Amino acid sequence: MNTQTLVRPVRAQFPGLLTADGQPWHYLDTGATAQKPQVVIDAVTRALGTDYATVHRGVYARSAEMTLAYEAARRRVAGFIGGAEHEIVFTRGATEAINLVAQSWGAANLKAGDRILLSVLEHHSNIVPWQLLRDRIGFAIDVCPLTDDGRIDLDAAEAMLTPAHKLVAFAHVSNVLGSVLDAKRAAELAHAVGAKLLLDGCQAVPRLPVDVGAIGADFYAFSAHKLYGPTGIGALWARSEILEAMPPWQGGGSMIDRVTFEKTTYAPAPTRFEAGTPAIAEALGLAAAIEFVEGIGVDEINAHERDLTDKTRDALRRMNDVTVFGPDDGLGIVSFALRGVHPHDLGTILDEENVAIRAGHHCAQPLMDHLGVPATARASFGIYSDDSDIDALVAGIERTRRIFG
Ligand SMILES: Cc1ncc(COP(=O)(O)O)c(C=O)c1O
Repeated sequence: MNTQTLVRPVRAQFPGLLTADGQPWHYLDTGATAQKPQVVIDAVTRALGTDYATVHRGVYARSAEMTLAYEAARRRVAGFIGGAEHEIVFTRGATEAINLVAQSWGAANLKAGDRILLSVLEHHSNIVPWQLLRDRIGFAIDVCPLTDDGRIDLDAAEAMLTPAHKLVAFAHVSNVLGSVLDAKRAAELAHAVGAKLLLDGCQAVPRLPVDVGAIGADFYAFSAHKLYGPTGIGALWARSEILEAMPPWQGGGSMIDRVTFEKTTYAPAPTRFEAGTPAIAEALGLAAAIEFVEGIGVDEINAHERDLTDKTRDALRRMNDVTVFGPDDGLGIVSFALRGVHPHDLGTILDEENVAIRAGHHCAQPLMDHLGVPATARASFGIYSDDSDIDALVAGIERTRRIFG
C-alpha cells in the first residue's frame, strides 16, 4: 500500500508543521504530543468563543447546548474505543486517569499482602501512582521482564501471576520501543488469577484500532493530546460494574448528589469522578480530533505508520554505528543510539536541519536501565509524517556523524 498519498492533503491541515519562516518542519515527536489539525483548533476556538458557556448547571439555552455537546463528546470517546458512554470519565490525561484508578479502585481494593504486576517498559505514569499507593498500603509490586527484542514477556507474566495478584497494568504500546502488547492475552492471563487489567493506551489509540470489550480489559487510559486533540483532557474507561463500585477520589462541585455538614452523598458514575468545572473546550476539541481520525480511518493510519516505522528501522539498521532498539514490528515509534554521540547532541544538530526528535529517558527510566543507556534518540510518527521526514532524519544523522568525526 502506498500510504504516502494519504499524507499530502492531510499535512496541509496542520498549521504546526511549518517552521517560523515557512519551511517544512520534520516533526518526529508525535509520541510526545501530536500536532493539531485545523478542525481541532477551530472546535476549541468556537467552544471558547461564540459557543462558550458552562455545562451541567446553566438554565439558559447556551449552557444547555454546551452540556449536550460535552456529553456528545463523551459518547464519541466511548464509541471510539468500544465502551459505553457511562463508562467514560474525562480526566486531565492518562496520568490523571491512572492516578484515579490507583487512588479510588486501588485504595478500596488493594491491601497488604496483595501484589500487582507492572512491566519493565512502563512510562513513569504507570509506575509512580502505584508506588505512592504501595507506600501507604503495603502491597507488593512485581515487574514483568521483557523478551530479548523488547516486548512485555507474557510467558513470563503467566509464570509470575498468582491469586495474590489483584491488578496487571501494562502499556498497550510502548512509548519508547513501539512494542505492541497482545492485549487480549494479557487480559486472559490477568483474569485467570482473578486480577484486573489496566491498559495504558496513550500510544495505542493514535495508531491502533482499540476495542476495550473485544480485548476484555477492565481499565483503559489515554490522553487527547497524543491523538491530535488538546492538552488538559484525556479519558479513563472502566468496565461499568467496576466504575459503579468505585468511591470518589476528588471532592467538590458537580460530583455530589446532596451535601450537608453531617453527610454527603455522591452522583452516579461517571459524574462522581469529575469534581469541579470540567475542561469543556478541551472535551469538544477531543471529540473533533476523534472525528478527524475516524474520517481518515484508524486502519489507514495504522498501515501508514507501519510503513514508516519499517522504512525507518531499515534505514537506521543500514548504518553500522546505529543501534536500533525494540522489536521489528514496533509501531509508530523507533528508539535508537548513534555510537559516540549523546542523543541530546544528535537532537540539537537535527534541530538545525528542521528535524525534531525526542532525546532522553522518555519517562521510562527503568527501561533505560534495562537497555543499559541513560537515554535514547526517538523518532515517532503521526498521520502527517512521510518519507521526506525519514530522509531528513537520515541526512541529519549523516551530518552529525561527520561533525563528530
Ligand atoms: C505510554 C504513555 N503513558 C502515559 C503517558 C502520560 O501521558 P500524559 O502526560 O498525557 O498524562 C505517556 C506520555 O508520554 C505515554 O507515552
